[in-house]
Amino acid sequence: MKFAWFEVAALTASVANANSLAYSPPYYPSPWMTGEGDWSEAYTRAVEFVSNLTLAEKVNLTTGSGWMQESCVGETGGIPRLGMWGMCMQDAPLGIRFSDYNSAFPAGVNVAAAWDKRLAYQRGVAMGEEHRDKGVDVQLGPVAGPLGKFPDGGRNWEGFSPDPVLTGVMMAETIKGMQDAGVIACAKHFIGNEQEHFRQSGEAQGYGYNISQSLSSNIDDKTMHELYLWPFVDSIRAGVGSVMCSYNQINNSYGCANSYSLNKLLKGELGFQGFVMSDWGAHHSGVESALAGLDMSMPGDVILGSPYSYWGTNLTISVLNGTMPEWRVDDMAVRIMSAYYKVGRDRFRTPPNFSSWTRDEYNFQHSMVSEDWGKVNERVNVQRDHAQIIRKIGSDSTVLLKNKGGALPLTHNEKFISILGEDAGSNAHGANGCDDRGCDNGTLAMGWGSGTANYPYLITPEQAIQNEALEYSNGQTNVFAVTDNWALTQMAALASQADVALVFVNADSGEGFINVDGNEGDRKNLTLWKNGEEVIKTASQHCNNTIVVIHSTSAVLISDWYDNDNITAIIWAGLPGQESGHSLVDVLYGRINPGGKTPFTWGKTRKDYGPPLVTVPNNGADAPQDNFEDGVFIDYRRFDKDNIEPIYEFGYGLSYTKFAFSDIKVTPLASSQRGEYKATTGKSQKAPVLGEPSTVSDNLFPEGIKRVRQYLYPWLNSTDLRASSGDPDYGMDSKDYLPEGATDGSPQDLLPSSGSSGGNPGLFEDLYQVTATITNTGSVTGDEVPQLYLSLGGNDDPTKVLRQFDRVTIAPGQSLQWTTTLTRRDVSNWDVASQNWVISGAQKKVYVGNSSRKLPLSADLPSVE
Ligand code: BGC
Ligand code: BGC
Repeated sequence: MKFAWFEVAALTASVANANSLAYSPPYYPSPWMTGEGDWSEAYTRAVEFVSNLTLAEKVNLTTGSGWMQESCVGETGGIPRLGMWGMCMQDAPLGIRFSDYNSAFPAGVNVAAAWDKRLAYQRGVAMGEEHRDKGVDVQLGPVAGPLGKFPDGGRNWEGFSPDPVLTGVMMAETIKGMQDAGVIACAKHFIGNEQEHFRQSGEAQGYGYNISQSLSSNIDDKTMHELYLWPFVDSIRAGVGSVMCSYNQINNSYGCANSYSLNKLLKGELGFQGFVMSDWGAHHSGVESALAGLDMSMPGDVILGSPYSYWGTNLTISVLNGTMPEWRVDDMAVRIMSAYYKVGRDRFRTPPNFSSWTRDEYNFQHSMVSEDWGKVNERVNVQRDHAQIIRKIGSDSTVLLKNKGGALPLTHNEKFISILGEDAGSNAHGANGCDDRGCDNGTLAMGWGSGTANYPYLITPEQAIQNEALEYSNGQTNVFAVTDNWALTQMAALASQADVALVFVNADSGEGFINVDGNEGDRKNLTLWKNGEEVIKTASQHCNNTIVVIHSTSAVLISDWYDNDNITAIIWAGLPGQESGHSLVDVLYGRINPGGKTPFTWGKTRKDYGPPLVTVPNNGADAPQDNFEDGVFIDYRRFDKDNIEPIYEFGYGLSYTKFAFSDIKVTPLASSQRGEYKATTGKSQKAPVLGEPSTVSDNLFPEGIKRVRQYLYPWLNSTDLRASSGDPDYGMDSKDYLPEGATDGSPQDLLPSSGSSGGNPGLFEDLYQVTATITNTGSVTGDEVPQLYLSLGGNDDPTKVLRQFDRVTIAPGQSLQWTTTLTRRDVSNWDVASQNWVISGAQKKVYVGNSSRKLPLSADLPSVE
């Protein structure tokens, strides 16, 4: 049932008390880039480049040319005078969106399930190569927000895992891979973008809620640091070139105008050297967002498709009329160009050779306004041999949840295989038949929304199983599939003849601009889609060797059937991408021994996960409020805290072999005894000012540039600033509305927790070494994922938190000594009072094992001097 907004307002009047709303403290001025660490060379080149630009040219780097005005989902203006075309931003997290002859990789959640740093890196490289060769400058991924606070959050699968360490490591490896291939990565969405409902007020109005502001994610400072910010720290340490600020508000200040999250956390504390771009339409103010730390407006227009921009000409004017200091625009441009040089864009660039808006070869170049007919799709094939790594990640991310009496692997001696469930088969409308994969037809291999790619082909489970069974039996295995989920009678008939019934079920989710079957991006519930429970029930009633394969974006409820005796095996295959069926048969038939571990908890009920999504506005027509009252206790931390038994715990997954853990040893390293952690002190340099101050006449619309309708330009149309602005209220505001200190370019105090890309360098010193022995006690070679958890020991701390892991391959009878380390960051808590990390006096303990609840080894952590 939906409430009208005014009814809700009445119901929740107490929440709407304006005085009690969370508040985001101001932090100004916006820290300017310093070129520290391995940014120095790129910074020097960027400064040199930007010093020779006019103000309008700098502004052109910061502002998109408008929605659907160029080939990519977002494109800045270029520097025509220097022959530089605009920068292309394109989605992203699992392959190129809106393209062709590209690969469709496994989703982030599968990368997390593989727990394999090397594969994450290789996938990053492969995706980066494809984007690079299509002419993309910035690949709009990877995703660490949503982190996964809500199991039913629509976009969790674009990212990795609700655990910040697992996500942080996968972010870093993906970013390194992408940027090594020569494209700029974009860590998104910063920050607190945990649900789709109400992320944008316009979108919410579209589904019937009359709210005027986006949802506010209200996050306290400690939770911010210990949970949501964590993977962004790893991203920055990996050198990420850009960060996308999010649609939602954080403590009632918009993500792209939030001086606390952008100026203080990202650029101050974490020393982020790249640029901040807005999510599409997440930019809501002119000078204000510039001073709060936004560096690039995407796709440039106020509302997608409107002919106005907060920036473009208006940003140029704001400097010329003295509202905005030019150093801030210099800093934006230098940050953008530094990222450009850092990943080698100057060496790798090729103009975009595809169009996001049509698959036709010829069409309008400016799609929004139907201007300039020409060749828009060159149909360049960028796939290479990426199918191989896609297939490998698919099988290595497969999680074997149950395997009774060695039901798996299959043997090729099966006489009669039934394949049951729509999720085994093709989409009757074609694999790319629904825009942005906004439907759940046939097998599920990615969610929906902007985080999708077109498939080059999609190997279904049905195809792959049939091929495999027939090939190995010389055509003698009988294989049948029923892919109509309501044909239960036919399913029953097949199941009763089969020696194995392979059942396929799924649960889909995606981004809030598409509603699939009543799911506004977020899922309505955690149950299976399309009659899935009935399919399982039918199969298991008629076949005592029923094997269930789940494709889902995150956890689903399995309580009713997981322990059924006739269900001999359960596999979670996530969202494996184009090679889905191939990856699966490699595991089903034992060519690949499963080693994936679930990157989230499988609870018995939705309630077990903690607070629900905010699906009804709770603050009248104003911003719905999501108080993150669960703090750092999401996913397994919540189950541990409330002492709730999950069905399958975070980090769990079976193998066709067995592993034993022994001999834990913790050794304090010299650095742990060597003096204490030093808070950063002192002041920054003053803001650099590049080139000569700009004049009005330098920034007039140049001759010889064709004006495209609605296109967002940076230049002035006349020497009269008021006329150029097109703003009837021009000059009405006084400069008094600028926050205190926002335009101050003098040296600023440094934050104690700052000092390098990612924060105070002392945080990343190794303090302890931990070793443990892992033995393969079974009879086949297999992969194990040793996991190290830490109890920080304080009253407010989770029972344990993941801190280290690896994926290792061990032959039967062999042992391997696993060595890992713990940094100062790993053993610290965020101290709100000193605004720094501290190692508390509480006794800490390390655990090692192969899931968050199978931790046979433990040892006390000796205290640090
Ligand atoms: C999404 C972003 C995406 C952008 C461009 C937005 O709606 O939230 O993740 O990169 O669109 O398509
Ligand atoms: C587009 C996305 C865009 C979103 C904004 C969709 O129509 O495909 O790229 O970000 O609208 O909400």
